[in-house]
Amino acid sequence: MNKQRVLFLCTHNSARSQMAEGLLRALAGDRFDVASAGTEATGVHSLAVRAMADVGLDIGRHTSKTVDTLLDQPWDHVITVCDSANERCPVFPKKTRRLHWSFSDPSQATGATEDRLNVFRRVRDEITARLTAWLETAPVARGEGITVDVVRLAEKFGKFSDAWSPKVVGEVNGMHVKLVKLRGEFVWHHHEREDELFLVVHGRLRMQLRDGDREVGPGELIIVPRGLEHCPRALTDEVCVLLLEPAGTLNTGNVQNERTVAELERI
Ligand code: NI
Repeated sequence: MNKQRVLFLCTHNSARSQMAEGLLRALAGDRFDVASAGTEATGVHSLAVRAMADVGLDIGRHTSKTVDTLLDQPWDHVITVCDSANERCPVFPKKTRRLHWSFSDPSQATGATEDRLNVFRRVRDEITARLTAWLETAPVARGEGITVDVVRLAEKFGKFSDAWSPKVVGEVNGMHVKLVKLRGEFVWHHHEREDELFLVVHGRLRMQLRDGDREVGPGELIIVPRGLEHCPRALTDEVCVLLLEPAGTLNTGNVQNERTVAELERI
């Protein structure tokens, strides 16, 4: 069975995200590969280790990691477990299924060690309850219960008319398959990290590049490498294009303007 990959995030990757990692692995390690990280790596809190040892779980060998070391891995779920009211929760920049569960930070507890340990135990139990509830409705393993449909491009293109506003019609290995209609000229831009594939379905596209233009007709495609400035232009009234690019790629790349579409519609 393919395991789903879950990443827990909190600020320091010291207590809550470490306990969540250990708890999920204990509860459903057969279904999930689990990791945790923070915006800073400050080491696993000794009281978190003790609170987990109380329920027979050893997280003493966990290490504290920063999220940037894990950015390039494919995660099925990214779950932040910080206190949204009192802290700045880490931001995971990639598009993926994200959940936020708010737990107070046990390391802020004051008083005698035993009192502080009790706060860790309480948060541990809150995380356990949350995980148990989540597992009941939890997403099935990859490939199970997923319907496989034929995507009919003509039908999909018939569902929208706005230009320069990509719609997501599928996902493959972290890439989005998008459909977009082009009319007139776009804006010059580049993408820092993403290569973009444009497959023309209808109409004619002129891909303007700094070293000259490329014309792309139906049944032809062009790949614009990352970092290269480009400006698509429709040579016919309307051009229907299929795009393949990493999920999260912004249509206007490094340029932010009224044509930037941050939240993509799925059709
Ligand atoms: Ni682009």
